[in-house]
Amino acid sequence: HRLRGVLSLDDFEGLAKRHLPKPLFGYIAGASETNASLKMNADAFRGMTFQPRVLRNTSSRSTQTTLFGEEWNSPFGIAPMGISALMAYRGDIVLAKAAQDAGIAMVMSGSSLIRLEEIVEAAPRSWFQAYLPGEPDRIDALIDRVASAAYKTLVLTVDTPVLANRENNIRAGFSTPLRPSVRLVWQGLTHPAWTIGTFARTILNHGIPHFENSYATRGAPIIASNVMRDFGKKDHLSWEHFSRIRQRWNGNLVVKGILHPEDAAIAVQRGADGIIVSNHGGRQLDGTIAPLKALPAIVDKVGFKTAVMIDGGFRRGTDIVKALALGAKFVFVGRPFLYAAAVGGQAGVAKAVSILSDELHRNMGLLGVTEINELSSLLIQRR
Ligand code: FNR
Repeated sequence: HRLRGVLSLDDFEGLAKRHLPKPLFGYIAGASETNASLKMNADAFRGMTFQPRVLRNTSSRSTQTTLFGEEWNSPFGIAPMGISALMAYRGDIVLAKAAQDAGIAMVMSGSSLIRLEEIVEAAPRSWFQAYLPGEPDRIDALIDRVASAAYKTLVLTVDTPVLANRENNIRAGFSTPLRPSVRLVWQGLTHPAWTIGTFARTILNHGIPHFENSYATRGAPIIASNVMRDFGKKDHLSWEHFSRIRQRWNGNLVVKGILHPEDAAIAVQRGADGIIVSNHGGRQLDGTIAPLKALPAIVDKVGFKTAVMIDGGFRRGTDIVKALALGAKFVFVGRPFLYAAAVGGQAGVAKAVSILSDELHRNMGLLGVTEINELSSLLIQRR
């Protein structure tokens, strides 16, 4: 019933803001420092306008697309988001199953509170995102684990060489791990639906959640202290390590967090099957170019032989169309899906997917196209 008034992806945000304790909502919504990257992500879409075609028969339209030899019902997927199971009961499974049922891609975060094996059992088409250190033994161990869990696609996130400065988390009293405080307890008491439906239910059924997959925090409980101390210290991943990963990993290999065309070229030259143009939703370096703005030069450089994907600020079907028209093969959406999981569980995520998919269908009709691959730069003007 909570979902009845939801008409667009942005509507989930207001509901989540009321439902979640402030520090948790702030963790999802927030970005880094001045939020310049975050704002530029949203603004980039306004810098592009459509020139639609008319009187073409668009009565039967399809959003289906092929990527890495597989059929997907939509050209968008769910971006990896850490500690989702703190925001929504069994959050990662909720996201993965909703994606599986809708026939879209979901990327399981490496900073997750649920074991990566459990996710791929529940939703076999899930992808896995890894944060890796510059340590061959740990690289090999995680890759072998992901391979034996039968993931087909590995996403390596490369825009987190050091932890970002997320002042909003400090101000709101959020940290990983969570440190119990009077303020946090008060937030729990004033958000009983979350406290009972997510937090208490998790602890009763599964015990205190632990980080299950990350090399830096594996085995560390979400409520404790100092487990992130390794993060950013042993994280000196380099292109040489990337080549090692490529040699060991037989599945699809995707590099997430590229903004520079030269890096896209290096990734492809070293054997990447895909790249995700991303500034981590504005959560890492503040003041980066918006992924949408970086996209054309990257497509020019490597798009003819590599799957160029993108994320950052995509909230509408029209946003997705713009990236596809500029040559992206796939778009990932982060925050709205996690808000949807928090307020509505699997049904919430399913609703978010169907809203976005309906928008995309309608926009294709309005643009005069029937297939995803008809979306071309001829339909848009860049300012
Ligand atoms: C993220 N992101 C992220 N990326 C990643 O590679 N591994 C991770 O564990 C996380 N964790 C994470 C948590 C939360 C709460 C958010 C909001 C984001 C970044 C994410 O994959 C993606 O790049 C952005 O979220 C996309 O931007 P939008 O759609 O949220 O604007």
